[in-house]
Amino acid sequence: MIERWRERLPWTFVGIAVGLVVALTATILPGLLTDPDALEDGPIIILTGRDDSIGGQRQQLVNQWNLLHPQSPARIIELPAHADGQRSEMLARAQASGGEVDVFNLDVTWTAEFAENGYIRSLDESRLATGGFLDGPLATCRYGGRVWALPFNADVGLLYYRSDLIEDPPRTWEELEEQVDAVRARTGNGVDGYAGQFADYEGLTVNALEAVLGAGGSIVDESGDVVVRDQRAAVLEGLERLRAIAPAGVPELDEDTSIQLFQSGRTLFMRNWPRAHRSLAQDLEGAPAVPFEVAPLPGGSGVLGGQNLAISAQSARPRAAQALIEFLTGDRSQQILFERGGLPATRAVVYSDQAVRERYRYVAILEEALGTAETRPTQPHYARFSAVFRAAVTGYLRHDKPLADDLQAQLEAAALGRLTADDE
Ligand code: GLC
Repeated sequence: MIERWRERLPWTFVGIAVGLVVALTATILPGLLTDPDALEDGPIIILTGRDDSIGGQRQQLVNQWNLLHPQSPARIIELPAHADGQRSEMLARAQASGGEVDVFNLDVTWTAEFAENGYIRSLDESRLATGGFLDGPLATCRYGGRVWALPFNADVGLLYYRSDLIEDPPRTWEELEEQVDAVRARTGNGVDGYAGQFADYEGLTVNALEAVLGAGGSIVDESGDVVVRDQRAAVLEGLERLRAIAPAGVPELDEDTSIQLFQSGRTLFMRNWPRAHRSLAQDLEGAPAVPFEVAPLPGGSGVLGGQNLAISAQSARPRAAQALIEFLTGDRSQQILFERGGLPATRAVVYSDQAVRERYRYVAILEEALGTAETRPTQPHYARFSAVFRAAVTGYLRHDKPLADDLQAQLEAAALGRLTADDE
């Protein structure tokens, strides 16, 4: 009897072991297959503006992602360079059913519009590491108490100046105007004023806003309410100064053409984003075309720009899209984008990185400018509001048209979405 048990015992253990494996597989495997955190397979499409980094660093990061996640490969679709054109294209894709976009790279002023219209998904903040982002850029991802995107690159208006013509950059706008006048007189208007983004697009809104801020005014208060009525004197002072310091006729420049003008030596100053530094310094070691330095805009009146990555509401792969966004906005990616590509990082830690500080002399200035940067209103109808403001600015600067008496009412209506293009 005992002998017989001895013979059977190993087989009994094998049976129990097999039974256990079958039971465990039956309970765990389906769980694994439907893991709620697993990334979905299939391509992830990113719709974005032009990659202005040195050496196409955004694409390089996407290549890295694709090596790590061959089942969920990402692909970049690039849109026109101007912010307004990008917005129209992104809106069209967001409104079309089956838009086939997974990730939108949104300008900081579009979050509210895309969120309010249900074009993007909010992110679960409790599951995100948002602590390391710069405050300003992260704030532009919030709307209605939720986080809708993560900051991809930071941007802020900076002052570029000819270091061979002036010693110290101006600290006030009055000083800037005096320096412009002095150099105009010295060079017989050969070196003419302050190049900025004066063509009729979002760039002009930003430039005019900075001039108004520089005169101690604003067009909206902290809660986003239009305050032009109470600020009329400052608005006029800012615009008047802009007209005085701009090259003759307030040329219709954008980011690229203002770089060309400054680079050709025809202006003393240029207002532009940090990316102009890359173009002006050429290969960072080589001699620049004109000797220049960078400073914060006088009085720290630079406006905050930048782009944020958001998940399209229509994406069939939201978990993979979110993982990709976290990858692209993580410390390592942000370090690469800044160090190799020259795109200002959104993660605070990158600014103290030794390699970044050695390569870009102006990091401390950039940090200072980002620290005081003003944000544009976060409203779903921001684009309309901006268009109405810009029309008034263009009329004033270029056609001597006084500001309308009811500008306050027009801007309020635009901000509330009560003004259509036909009403203007
Ligand atoms: C830059 C800024 C963006 C701004 C645009 C205006 O791309 O990052 O925020 O709206 O310029 O031209």
